[in-house]
Amino acid sequence: MYFTIGGRRVQSGLYRVTYVGEESTTPVAKVAKTFGNGQEPTLLASSATARKSRHELEAFHGRQDPNAVKVAWPHLSNNDRFIRWAARVAIEHQPVETWADKALTESDSKIQVEALLALARVAGVCPQHRTDSSPPVDTQMRDKLLAAVLAIDLPKLDATSQLTVQRTLQIILTRFGRPDDATVQKLTVALAPLFPAESFELNWLLCETLGWLQSPTVAAKAMALIDAAPTQEEQVQYARSIRLLKAGWNDELQTAYFEWFLKAANYRGGASFAKFIEFIRNDAVASLSDAQKDSLKEVLAKKPVQKSALENLGAIFKGRPETNWTLDELSQAARTDLKQRDFRNGRKMFAAAGCFACHRFRNQGGMTGPDLTTAGRRYSSHDLLDQVVNPSKVINDQFSAVTVVTDEGLVHTGVVVNLGGDRLTLNTDLTDPNKRVNIDRNSIEELIASKTSPMPAGLFNRMTKDEILDLTAYLISGGDAGHEYFQK
Ligand code: HEC
Repeated sequence: MYFTIGGRRVQSGLYRVTYVGEESTTPVAKVAKTFGNGQEPTLLASSATARKSRHELEAFHGRQDPNAVKVAWPHLSNNDRFIRWAARVAIEHQPVETWADKALTESDSKIQVEALLALARVAGVCPQHRTDSSPPVDTQMRDKLLAAVLAIDLPKLDATSQLTVQRTLQIILTRFGRPDDATVQKLTVALAPLFPAESFELNWLLCETLGWLQSPTVAAKAMALIDAAPTQEEQVQYARSIRLLKAGWNDELQTAYFEWFLKAANYRGGASFAKFIEFIRNDAVASLSDAQKDSLKEVLAKKPVQKSALENLGAIFKGRPETNWTLDELSQAARTDLKQRDFRNGRKMFAAAGCFACHRFRNQGGMTGPDLTTAGRRYSSHDLLDQVVNPSKVINDQFSAVTVVTDEGLVHTGVVVNLGGDRLTLNTDLTDPNKRVNIDRNSIEELIASKTSPMPAGLFNRMTKDEILDLTAYLISGGDAGHEYFQK
């Protein structure tokens, strides 16, 4: 098949990549070479030491050794998660009675959270793997583990240990089952003040556990987080975690929850995405009492109004006048005013302007356009703004649209997402990865590379200059709230 690019006919070779140039293409022989370009030699030394430690710990995997626990234990608080992991697995392979008490009574909480995770994993059987011949659930061990977790001063833990202890708690609860009401009460009292936390990852775990514990405060907090969350990933996660929650609701919160499902019906994801949203909603409806179903009948009966992702996203700017921002104006502002920016607002604007609909950023958002996580390292603020103000000036050819004319006279425009056998697949709306057309390659009369970017122009038009600068700072910082642009 032939493409027409810039008036030339080019044979397609989509899967064959050849390098033409002067640089050497011999494989890099040693790690030392990659780090050798003037970078600090300590980097090499420390990574070599770290690798050696990890290999020593891995030597205990799958093998009992009287020294293993002693050697591995201090590494449970190593800052390198791969070493922590290797140490924990080394310990898990040793007879549990030789280290269970040590885990339960450890006084260094950074070590203890990992040790308790090991103990929960070894002493508890995953419900899916339980068979008739499995021993009964060791409820004494469950109570000891939970008492040890409750004895930890949770707010004092660092961010990593916070995540570990919350994960540990989930493993204890799934493997050993629900404890008595008094313990549930104690857990709820200990966890509720931690939620909401600063990070999404921690909120994810806390919302799940508190939802499962039927904490009476989680419904209101989760709904507030859904309302403030800039990405659909975060919203879906909270909505999923409270679907079986029966405590702490009132009419207003429940109405907001079911209104959210109407909005989420317009979110886009993989092929089964809509089904998953439906499953979550079904569970949420099944958790309602008859009286609740009756008082919510209006919102429950509503059908989602289908809108394109961009129409939906622009909603917060509705009714605002349009400004035709020029590159010069914005670039000038960026030169002087990329300081004391508002990180949260930058992220909110990145979502509101629709960027997440097509772009991945720090593992969230769509994947139909290029990942922008490192765009700030590759572009100046001027060039980034140029990409948004004038998307068609320079088009990344991996994502450029083509227009296909078939022998029946049909015209399709989109980005090629698949090419195999006789079939060419185009994604015709980048805000929806499922909008695809398949075209028989033998029916293609003409294939023209588009000179217009699939990224729409004018995305900044309803935003204020400050909002645009917050967004720009967010983008250039790579999503790092500690970046100098956000320092007050
Ligand atoms: C409808 C999908 C879509 C939306 C919405 C969208 N983009 Fe894009 N964007 C693309 C595509 C596709 C490309 C690659 C083609 C090109 O270079 O024009 C791109 C390219 C870019 C690039 C250049 C990236 C690179 O690696 O070369 C930047 C920067 C960018 N977009 C920023 C944004 C920002 C900021 C927003 C929100 C204000 C946004 N985009 C909204 C689809 C979109």
